[in-house]
Amino acid sequence: MRNPTTVLVTGGTGSFGQEFVGTLLARYPHLTRLVVFSRDEQKQYEMSQLFSPTQYPCLRYVIGDVRDKDRLLDALQGIEMVVHAAAMKHVHIAEYNPFECVKTNILGAQNLIEACIERGVQRVVALSTDKAANATGLYGATKLCADKLFISASLAEVSPKPIFSVVRYGNVVGARGSVIPFFIEKRKEGVLPITHPDMTRFSITPQQGIDLVLFALERALGGEIFVPKLPSYRILDVAQAIAPDCEHRIVGIRQGEKIHEEMIMPTDALSTLELEKHYVIVPPEPYYSTTSNMTRYAEHHGGKPVATDFAYTSGENTDWLSIEGLRQVMQEVLKFSLASS
Ligand SMILES: NC(=O)c1ccc[n+]([C@@H]2O[C@H](COP(=O)([O-])OP(=O)(O)OC[C@H]3O[C@@H](n4cnc5c(N)ncnc54)[C@H](OP(=O)(O)O)[C@@H]3O)[C@@H](O)[C@H]2O)c1
Repeated sequence: MRNPTTVLVTGGTGSFGQEFVGTLLARYPHLTRLVVFSRDEQKQYEMSQLFSPTQYPCLRYVIGDVRDKDRLLDALQGIEMVVHAAAMKHVHIAEYNPFECVKTNILGAQNLIEACIERGVQRVVALSTDKAANATGLYGATKLCADKLFISASLAEVSPKPIFSVVRYGNVVGARGSVIPFFIEKRKEGVLPITHPDMTRFSITPQQGIDLVLFALERALGGEIFVPKLPSYRILDVAQAIAPDCEHRIVGIRQGEKIHEEMIMPTDALSTLELEKHYVIVPPEPYYSTTSNMTRYAEHHGGKPVATDFAYTSGENTDWLSIEGLRQVMQEVLKFSLASS
C-alpha cells in the first residue's frame, strides 16, 4: 500500500487489529493518524502499553461501537482508509445470541458503510471468513450478509464513492480460540479432543492476513472478494506435530462446523479470477450495465477466469503442510517448538 496517511481500524484491539496496527506503525512512518476503534477500555488500555500514543503520536484510541453510527461519524473525520475487523466471531456464541451477532456483524457493517460514504473515506476493506462461503451457521450467515452489503455499496451512485472490498480467509494460526493454541494447552492432559479425523483447514499466518488486507487496500477496483492461495493441513497432522505421544478422543463436530473449509464455491466459479497469489471473486454487474465486469476486472488485476466447475476447499487443495511444515509455522508464529515446550 502506498503511503497511507490517515487510517481507522474497527476492532483494532483484536488479534488481527493489534498485529495490523503494529505493521502499519512499522512500515508507514508518515502516518498522521491511526485510529483504533473498539468498545472495551481495558483492551485499549492494555494495547496502549504496547503501542503508546507518546511513542507513536499518530495513534488515537477511540471507544465506540459499530452499532452506533454517530460515533463512527465522529471517529471517521479526516480518515482516508478504513479496515473493518470488528465482529462477533465465535460460532457457538453467535448461535446462542443470534440478534446480538446480527446487530454487530450486519447492522454494524451497514453503519460503517453509510458513515464512510458520508465522511468521504477513499478505501475500505472488510474482513470476512471462509464461514461466509456456503454458510451453515449464524456467524457465517451474518458475515455473508455483511460481504453483500460491502459489495453492493460499490454500486452506490454517490460521489465521491469509497472503494469497498472484502478479504476472505480461514482460521488464523494461533488466533484466540483456534485449534493450535487449544491443542498446546490440552497436551498437558495427555489426551487431545479431535472433532473429526478427516478434518482439514487452510493455514494462514497473521502476517499473511495483514498482507492480504494491504493488497486489497491498494489494488481493489471496488466490490471484489479477495481470497488468498494457501496450503491446507490435516487436523491429525496438527495433533502429531504438537503432541505425538497424546491419545486422541473423537468428540464429533459441532453443529454448523464443516469437515473441510470452503473458500470459493462452484456457484462463484463463473465470476472468479485467478491471480498469481490470490483468487478474486468479481462483483456482479449492476442490472442496468451492458458490459461484463469479468473483462474489466481481469484487465485491472491481470488475472484469468477459473474453470467453470472450480471450487476452492481445504480438502481438495493441491498444496499441503507436512507435519514438519506445521511445526515450522508454529515455531514462526507462536514461538512454539517441541524442544522448547
Ligand atoms: N481469527 C480468525 O481466525 C479469523 C478468520 C477469518 C476471519 N476473521 C475475521 O477477522 C476479523 C478480526 O478477527 P479477530 O480474530 O481479530 O477477532 P477478535 O480478536 O475477537 O477481535 C475483535 C475486535 O472487534 C472489537 N469489537 C467487537 N464488537 C465490536 C463492536 N460492536 N464495535 C466495535 N468493536 C467491536 C473487539 O473489541 P471490543 O470487544 O473491545 O469491542 C476486538 O477489538 C473479524 O471480522 C473476523 O470475523 C477472523
